[in-house]
Amino acid sequence: DKEETISVTFVGKDDEETHIEVPVGMSMLEAAQENNIELEGRACEASLACSTCHVIVMDVEYYNKLEDPTDEENDMLDLAFGLSETSRLGCQVIAKPELDGIRLALPAATRNFAVDGYVPKPH
Ligand code: FES
Repeated sequence: DKEETISVTFVGKDDEETHIEVPVGMSMLEAAQENNIELEGRACEASLACSTCHVIVMDVEYYNKLEDPTDEENDMLDLAFGLSETSRLGCQVIAKPELDGIRLALPAATRNFAVDGYVPKPH
């Protein structure tokens, strides 16, 4: 069996884009680390006790396809540097077929990131 993968783009400093293929079921933190993308993470081994794996979903259609963040994730995101409306923790974003083509920005590169068309979800 060929492993199913989706394509993911990480956007870093100077809008530098890195395209990778990520197996379904793998977190974006693991995928970044396997591909030498500068996403720190691992500070807490994906246990929602840090915010170093913060990524920003660049397209709101994809943001809306993700599972809602848990309260624990939201608490950590509140502490993240460069928080945006479509921020998530990379260790909690798991590759699934609907996410094929997702683009993720690394927050250090995007201090004032604004996502067009973002509509806050009701709580
Ligand atoms: Fe710590 Fe994701 S690695 S919250």
